[in-house]
Amino acid sequence: MSKLKIMSVFGTRPEAIKMAPLVKELGEREEIQSICCVTAQHREMLDSVLQVFSLTPDWDLNIMTPRQTLSTITSKCLLGMDEAIETLQPDMILVHGDTSTTFAGALSAFYHKVPVGHVEAGLRTYDKYSPYPEEMNRKLVTAIADLYFCPTENNRQNLLREGVEKGVFVTGNTVIDALKTTVQKDFNFTTKILNQLPYDREKIVLVTCHRRENYGQPMTQIMTALRRLAEDHPDVELVYPVHLSPVVQEAARTYLGGHPRIHLIDPLSADEMHNLMARCYLVMTDSGGLQEEAPALGKPVLVLRRETERPEAVAAGTVQLAGVEEETIYQMGHTLLTDQEAYGKMAHAVNPYGDGFACRRIADAILWHFGRGERPEDFRG
Ligand code: UD1
Ligand code: UDP
Repeated sequence: MSKLKIMSVFGTRPEAIKMAPLVKELGEREEIQSICCVTAQHREMLDSVLQVFSLTPDWDLNIMTPRQTLSTITSKCLLGMDEAIETLQPDMILVHGDTSTTFAGALSAFYHKVPVGHVEAGLRTYDKYSPYPEEMNRKLVTAIADLYFCPTENNRQNLLREGVEKGVFVTGNTVIDALKTTVQKDFNFTTKILNQLPYDREKIVLVTCHRRENYGQPMTQIMTALRRLAEDHPDVELVYPVHLSPVVQEAARTYLGGHPRIHLIDPLSADEMHNLMARCYLVMTDSGGLQEEAPALGKPVLVLRRETERPEAVAAGTVQLAGVEEETIYQMGHTLLTDQEAYGKMAHAVNPYGDGFACRRIADAILWHFGRGERPEDFRG
């Protein structure tokens, strides 16, 4: 029997971190030829992930130019995918999550009548402009996909409510698989400052902020609150690896630059990021991936957004929604920096997002779909 050609398509940093272990798992299956196609919606931030996980793409659309609009990204991906699909002739295309690459990858697969597997399916906020454009991307991909790999049972329930019943698997999130390979007790950082931080004596607050719906006023309020937290708490060191988006770079420099205990640094490689997270005191972020990783490492998270499509860790008590208003963010940060009882209640490791075997379940589910194996057991968080 010929091998199944399974083509993983991704383009941004978080997709790469979450797809890398899956591309590898697929490559280890005898029945599968694992093909890796990157759009390079992100360039430097994608290449860094490819390096950490020792992945070499089979196809690279190389679409990134600075400050691209959503329409440009989507149309460049669509045009590039035509040639990739026609040349490589995959039996199935896998896309991940909710980026423009995800949507364009799925749409292109549909145009070529190639079945689509959606990794990280079923996340919802039910607000089409928040996160923007991600909530709409997820919904559009749901309409196109044939197989749905939901991280949690809650995600599966979201799909059920939309009438999606067939081809749905609860697998856990592949980010937990990735995390298992990167976090090490004696990790040595290549980013100098990270080896010098006083992890035991002071409170290291890890910050990231990059979402489009936070551009402008919300980002100003978030960053002003962060600066006040650093100014008012002499035992705090704030570490912010700043996303390469020019909008974010400008805001970070304006509102957080020039303070001796605020470290604005370049984006970190995934292994450095995960190991910094494992050593920090608190995470403040609007990132999706960090909301999943930090609970697994026992780190409290304040989410710098109005809503979250990841309510599982909120229910487990390790994540709180802080919103985008300066005063609320400041007060919630202040509480976790000064009230040890409140901090202790949040600082415990939970794994609602996976057990580290998501990729194995996804590979099994794909083989089952093609009649070449047993249906995998669902992940039960
Ligand atoms: C994208 C995703 C978002 C995801 C985020 C993860 C969309 C619409 N958004 O947002 O869902 O949370 O990635 O980080 O798909 N840039 C570089 N080098 C890089 C990466 C980015 O210079 O390696 C700069 C470019 O100027 C680029 C800009 O950042 O135009 C924004 O990148 P883009 O992919 O459009 O959106 P993100 O905000 O990164
Ligand atoms: N990350 C990283 N380096 C950084 C910031 C984030 O490796 O400097 C990782 C982080 O650990 C997580 C992923 O990138 O795995 C999240 O990406 P991002 O926040 O850009 O996107 P989102 O998850 O919000 O879509």
